Amino acid sequence: MDKPAVYAPNPKLAKNAHISSMAQYKEMYAKSIDKPEEFWLPVYKQFHWETPYTPGKFLSYNFDTEKGPVEIKWLDGATTNVCYNLLDRTVRCGNGDRIAYYWEGNDPEDYSRITYKKLLQEVCRFANVLKDHGVQKGDRVAIYMPMVLEVVIAMLACSRIGAVHAITFAGFSSDSLAERILDSKSKLLVTADCVMRGEKLICLKDICDTAMDRAAEQGHVVECCIVVEHLARLNATLNAQDNGHANGTNGTNGNSNGTNGTNGSAAYKKVDMKEDRDFWWTEEMEDAPSSCYPVWVSAEDPLFMLYTSGSTGKPKGVLHTTGGYLMYAATTFKYVFDYKPNDVYWCTADVGWITGHTYVVYGPLANGATSVIFEGTPFYPGNDRYWSVIDKYKVSQFYTAPTAIRSLMKFGDEPVLKHSLASLKVLGSVGEPINPEAWLWYYKMIGKEECSIVDTFWQTETGGHVLTPLPGCTPMKPGAASFPFFGVQPVLLDEAGKVVEGPGEGYLVFNRPWPGMMRTLFGNHERFQQVYFSRFPGYYCTGDGARRDEDGYLWVTGRVDDMLNVSGHLMSTAEVESVLVEHASVSEAAVVSRPHPVKGECLYCFVTPNEGAVFDKKLTDELKKQVRERIGPFAMPEVIQNAPGLPKTRSGKIMRRVLRKVALNDRDVGDISTLADEGVVDQLFANRPPEA
Ligand code: WTA
Repeated sequence: MDKPAVYAPNPKLAKNAHISSMAQYKEMYAKSIDKPEEFWLPVYKQFHWETPYTPGKFLSYNFDTEKGPVEIKWLDGATTNVCYNLLDRTVRCGNGDRIAYYWEGNDPEDYSRITYKKLLQEVCRFANVLKDHGVQKGDRVAIYMPMVLEVVIAMLACSRIGAVHAITFAGFSSDSLAERILDSKSKLLVTADCVMRGEKLICLKDICDTAMDRAAEQGHVVECCIVVEHLARLNATLNAQDNGHANGTNGTNGNSNGTNGTNGSAAYKKVDMKEDRDFWWTEEMEDAPSSCYPVWVSAEDPLFMLYTSGSTGKPKGVLHTTGGYLMYAATTFKYVFDYKPNDVYWCTADVGWITGHTYVVYGPLANGATSVIFEGTPFYPGNDRYWSVIDKYKVSQFYTAPTAIRSLMKFGDEPVLKHSLASLKVLGSVGEPINPEAWLWYYKMIGKEECSIVDTFWQTETGGHVLTPLPGCTPMKPGAASFPFFGVQPVLLDEAGKVVEGPGEGYLVFNRPWPGMMRTLFGNHERFQQVYFSRFPGYYCTGDGARRDEDGYLWVTGRVDDMLNVSGHLMSTAEVESVLVEHASVSEAAVVSRPHPVKGECLYCFVTPNEGAVFDKKLTDELKKQVRERIGPFAMPEVIQNAPGLPKTRSGKIMRRVLRKVALNDRDVGDISTLADEGVVDQLFANRPPEA
């Protein structure tokens, strides 16, 4: 294989960057590993601590299950409040009039902005609303919201009173939401009436109603549901515009404009409100005081939990805590995006995912940054929407996923060339490995060979970037996540747990905690230890494989477990299989991942029909619908194949590598002598459906 090309950072960018040479990076990195306390102390000092950490207790941890329970503690003894550090601190420094967010709606006519000062007032008001409804420190608050400013307000209001937000991405089904509400035992739910995604109307409150019913049937009652009048407001605004009263630009917070529950929006009327449980956001906020004293919490008290797929099916409630997460979100944001005052930063991720938590909300606000929040899709009203938004707000850092880049590449260069992208300086990629072709298009067509690309590898569990180039110093190799961030020590291990030194490939693990890593799985420390620390004692196991090249660059090669990544959404084959076998006509199912040109990976499902059941289009349509409804639209199977028999070993284990070959139509299946019935393999190839 040819040695891959290396792209040096633009010297203009490097000159003024926070970290402008590899020598500087190496020096800082060495310090972060050798003297963590000394390294993090200046970061710690930027923030307000109501009580300082106990001397000698900066960091304590155990990663080795053989020595005792896994434990990670940063800043023991310290107390603080994340919301206070994000908002009050910025306002008190005299930056209250700075824009925190430009909000860009699905409809290009619908946009607004909010300053730090106004955001603080709104957050305090909502914190008071939460308190009025009995939410206290440590209580979980479920959030199921579109990308509107209220979602940030709700998150920070939780943090202000020490409550723990548990967001479910608003593309998940009511079943998935119910499962998360039940597991987190959320007391209150915040949602919106409806949302438009492109031209599609999605009624979030209806989904919440079903989810709350499901949760109640299984023994957990959500006491209160607060509903943002999102679509009602949009309809009111657009009606006003039609009447010549357009006012999208100069309100400091468009979301508090014009909704009073009496305007005649059709979507608004459709929402069912249950007495004494459901309340309108605007009505609740109306009389709430705009100041709220922060609740000081311990550095290791929970800040939020967020579910991620587990390879055994049931989602895992990843728990992040306060002090370390704050320091890590702030530091990664500053260095990885090289954020400077007056930059405008835009991360396209939904707040329903970890990227939205750390790099739409916590990281940017901890730096007093100005960000864009975008509600819509890259394809509406045209395929140039991203580029037009970059041009509109003069975005300097743009952060998106490879699947989005690939899907936009398909439309060629013309939609890009319609807009000026001259403001761009750093381009980020996250969620899955980026293929060199997409990398090069991003670099050349979007970045005009002037921008650095940061291919950031991390996970819900890691809280922030762990492997990434830095824009002012790292020579870039397309597709390489490159080097560890400060405080992170990656190790590659072989199958036997032996360390792979120098160039080679292995399991990607970490041998020590960095401040932002998860602390446990909510309510299940056993599972936390088992999933992440049992395979290789003494190491946190990412579940990904990686390769180290001759120059020491790390290349993440993808999952080594039964997980897959569809358009950047991590899911397990097991969770899809369990939905498929619920169908009355299916006796068995096995799901594998197959590479997909746009989505990265897609789901290829094998199902064995029950005796007497017919495998036809009706069945496959029903199965697709079932997966969609039970998990979410993003989990939609690409192919469902009839598999009267599955390739099983004599001990009954399904040989998935054979199924992956069938999915690829690759006859080179390797050694199948341990199969109970080798004939099954030919039958599977013969049964590949035409659309596969
Ligand atoms: C994958 C998303 C290669 C990886 C922040 C990881 C990546 C999983 C990259 C976590 C990248 C994320 N290169 N693979 N730059 N970024 N991944 O929890 O398999 O939704 O384990 O967090 O995405 O997905 P999660």
